[in-house]
Amino acid sequence: MSASPLSAARDVAGLRAAVNGWRKAGLSVGLVPTMGALHEGHLSLVRTAKARCDRVVASLFVNPRQFAPHEDFERYPRDEAGDSTLLASAGCDLLFAPERTVMYPEGFSTNVIVTSVSTPLEGEMRPHFFGGVATVVTKLLLQCLPDAAFFGEKDYQQLLVIKRLAHDLDMPIEIVGCPTVREHDGLAMSSRNAYLNADERRVAGRLNLVLHEAIKAVRGGAAIVDAEAEASRHLSAAGFTSIDYVAIRDAETLERLDELRDPARVLAAAWLGKTRLIDNMEV
Ligand code: PAF
Repeated sequence: MSASPLSAARDVAGLRAAVNGWRKAGLSVGLVPTMGALHEGHLSLVRTAKARCDRVVASLFVNPRQFAPHEDFERYPRDEAGDSTLLASAGCDLLFAPERTVMYPEGFSTNVIVTSVSTPLEGEMRPHFFGGVATVVTKLLLQCLPDAAFFGEKDYQQLLVIKRLAHDLDMPIEIVGCPTVREHDGLAMSSRNAYLNADERRVAGRLNLVLHEAIKAVRGGAAIVDAEAEASRHLSAAGFTSIDYVAIRDAETLERLDELRDPARVLAAAWLGKTRLIDNMEV
């Protein structure tokens, strides 16, 4: 147990004891998986979970398997005490904060690989990423066995991957996608926004505006490839240092579209110095 305001389970036995107790009392359980460094986006997931379920567990685990060696695992912001206070204020009932050895004990040898929706976009740019996410989320879902688990649409491709794995593995768990929470200038909330300096932060607010413009362009009849290219040009002109992609895709499969049809989604990833930002919107 921790000195945090919220009671915390550090291992699977502790988590299951709490969840089983609630189940015996006839209560439903929601899970909100996080890597900590919580912001209003995470808290909105907790509030949605609390509106839908009697009890809410939030997990906090910075998952090394979803970071490549050159990525920001070491500097990823960590503040369990602060996170715990925020979770308690949002109505969370239990923090599940396992050590690395609980999640990946000596000899751990299993990787969960989702094909199809994992392959394009983030899958091309960060080939290690979805294997790490799918493995840890599968573990978290099986450790907690909630009725529903809540994920932000900000990581839209991740949400599709998790829906796919829960469906393919016959998990009796509803995967609920929740709307992106944005700053006053429309920047999608993200723990990584903390890396931005003041100049980068000003430029970051352009990302969502450029996506709105791309939607307007294709809805107005522009060809998808032209709208994507124009959006990339606008991001570069605004000060983004590198553009990984701006893509208008089928919203369910993420396949390329020759021409616009519903449901479609615009997704983008771009760099400001050392910080990589992603965003997406319904077209
Ligand atoms: O979106 C995140 O914070 C992480 O990818 C998740 C789902 C908690 C898995 O580590």
